Amino acid sequence: MKICLLEPAVARRQAEWIVAMEPWLSMGFQAEPIGRWLLRRARAGCVLAAAHQRAILGIVASQPDVLLGTFIALLAVRPQAAGQGVGRALVERVEHATFAHRRWLYVSSDSKNLAAGRFYQRLGFARVARLPDLVCENRVEILWRKKRP
Ligand SMILES: CC(C)(COP(=O)(O)OP(=O)(O)OC[C@H]1O[C@@H](n2cnc3c(N)ncnc32)[C@H](O)[C@@H]1OP(=O)(O)O)[C@@H](O)C(=O)NCCC(=O)NCCS
Repeated sequence: MKICLLEPAVARRQAEWIVAMEPWLSMGFQAEPIGRWLLRRARAGCVLAAAHQRAILGIVASQPDVLLGTFIALLAVRPQAAGQGVGRALVERVEHATFAHRRWLYVSSDSKNLAAGRFYQRLGFARVARLPDLVCENRVEILWRKKRP
């Protein structure tokens, strides 16, 4: 597996499989706007992919310069590649780049997404806030952060 920057047009196409997965599916996310957002993030050099041969296994999109750190705005691993260290490898790459010069790495997850919560805890993130209605009305996002070692 290798981690590489994703070209904008390729990043845009990843929206198709991402919106078919939880938590985005039940939140009603649509491929077109997510694809446009990924395109913009990738033009800013902020979308990484984990790939094996030519197959994309997972992606991470980040936003730098948020609250003295970086915010991971989207992390998705294809279901068939889950549990094989892809998510960890993607987050660790963002961590490495962030902690070279910033103090904090942030991410948020839907409070019902217990798997994501366990994953972020396992990677050393601490829960710092509840953000009701942030992404959808009547749902709560949990804000997580990790400090530079
Ligand atoms: C959550 C997600 C990113 C995890 O990625 P992954 O590639 O399956 O996770 P990894 O294999 O890298 O696991 C890393 C560690 O987290 C742990 N972990 C992963 N999923 C877990 C779960 N459901 N419960 C408990 N621990 C879990 C693993 O045991 C592993 O621990 P270790 O490295 O110490 O052995 C992935 O399953 C996913 O994309 N889910 C759907 C979208 C999502 O929820 N995105 C994040 C929130 S927006």
